[in-house]
Amino acid sequence: LVIVLDFGGQYNQLVARRVRECNVYCEIYSYKTDIEKIKAMNPKGIILTGGPNSCYLPDSPTYSDELFKLGIPVLGLCYGAQLMMHVLGGKVEKADVREYGKTEVLIDKVSSKVFADVSTPTVCWMSHFDYISKVAPGFEISAHTADCPVAAAENEAEKLYAIQFHPEVLHTQEGTKMINNFVKNVCECSGDWRMDSFVEQSINAIREKVGDGKVLLALSGGVDSSVAAGLLSRAIGKQLTCVFVDHGLLRKNEGDEVEAVFGPDGDFDLNFIRVNAQERYYNKLAGVTEPEQKRKIIGEEFIRVFEEEAKKIGAVDFLAQGTIYPDVVESGLGGESAVIKSHHNVGGLPDYVDFKEIIEPLRDLFKDEVRKAGLELGIPEELVYRQPFPGPGLGIRIIGEVTAEKVRIVQDADAIYREEIAKAGLDREINQYFAALTNMRSVGVMGDERTYDYAVALRAVKTIDFMTAEAAEIPYEVLNKVMSRIINEVRGVNRVFYDLTSKPPGTIEFE
Ligand code: XMP
Repeated sequence: LVIVLDFGGQYNQLVARRVRECNVYCEIYSYKTDIEKIKAMNPKGIILTGGPNSCYLPDSPTYSDELFKLGIPVLGLCYGAQLMMHVLGGKVEKADVREYGKTEVLIDKVSSKVFADVSTPTVCWMSHFDYISKVAPGFEISAHTADCPVAAAENEAEKLYAIQFHPEVLHTQEGTKMINNFVKNVCECSGDWRMDSFVEQSINAIREKVGDGKVLLALSGGVDSSVAAGLLSRAIGKQLTCVFVDHGLLRKNEGDEVEAVFGPDGDFDLNFIRVNAQERYYNKLAGVTEPEQKRKIIGEEFIRVFEEEAKKIGAVDFLAQGTIYPDVVESGLGGESAVIKSHHNVGGLPDYVDFKEIIEPLRDLFKDEVRKAGLELGIPEELVYRQPFPGPGLGIRIIGEVTAEKVRIVQDADAIYREEIAKAGLDREINQYFAALTNMRSVGVMGDERTYDYAVALRAVKTIDFMTAEAAEIPYEVLNKVMSRIINEVRGVNRVFYDLTSKPPGTIEFE
């Protein structure tokens, strides 16, 4: 185990990811974590992250010098590096110029364990106002840049390493190598943490926790809940019941696809309950045009349907949730990052299901690791690599009233769009793409006939965190093909638009 101590920087999850990519298990904790707790976890290494503060100011996050005297290797990154120097008697000051972006770093100590096989100069990602003007006693400078006298420093005997730049960011060309060097050469981690061992371990842990208890899971067909279902099924078989609510706002054939994998004809042993609630939802949504109102109805109706099913099942011991690691961190529970969004999976527990405890088998995994676990469990690739699909489904991709007819139009248009994007090899490049239905009808001509039909909008965005996004540049031929197929194949559509809006000012969804 390697511990990442979070000082509030923006790349902290990336640090943990990079460590895990070296097949070393790693968890993020707040810098406020007590030293006794850290000792009890007996980590092989500790990494201090970056952060937005200045370590010499009185109220800034800090850690006592005890941390550096445990005999456990410590790697400080950016703020973490400055803090290490500050606490151990070096000097950190505000720089005249901010160093930001790709920067050439010259390695002064080529024999450094963290810089093994790293070339000099090497391109690194810098982002700092403060700089280390004097290293702490016992440290030697191991790298510098034109503007920064201490790009890295180390006290090899005490196994303390400070790096001013960000090896966790891919712009640091040899950053992964440096992190790998730290965890393997300095911390002496064996690097045998693998997805198959995670799956194996989880199955055992679930069996132990659940015993002969009953588990209930709301399966949405999304990646996280599907992988959670797969894992639980492998662990406890029919003790697991999955309720899959088809609210009639899924993508084309999606309900059947989910049933094919998890239903009685699929490869997983579990009780699968599909609730076909399409009519119920359409009735509730009839005449409703206000977007928030639609969301509210869809959310409430889900609770009602799920509650009815849960009542039929009766008391269960565990309610399973597909919470993943970023949900935990974003909710402000994992590390020190600000609460970005309160996550529906974390915190507020449903009071309409009679259960004793929550079980979250994916709580320690990143999205890409969830996908790997899914493949390991034998869940089909189409499902594992499914793009994000919102809970309210097509309800937030249809402007104005939602009707069965409009759902059919948007499902058909969306299926064509996805098919063509995949054919063009763009499906893993674009982070989210879908067709939506505008509320606009206009005059067109088809054959010799006048038409008065809907306009479909195509959306495709590139984004890292889904908080900001830009419209993807799809080749014109691909868009043209999609347009022509939608007009020809989808009844009720006579125009196709491409949405160029970024977020902000737009949102990704279309509601
Ligand atoms: P917006 O439209 O807010 O979307 O720019 C950002 C990301 O969040 C997804 N999204 C949702 N996901 N329930 C979900 O599970 C929701 O209510 C919801 N609303 C938006 C959206 O698909 C995009 O990935």
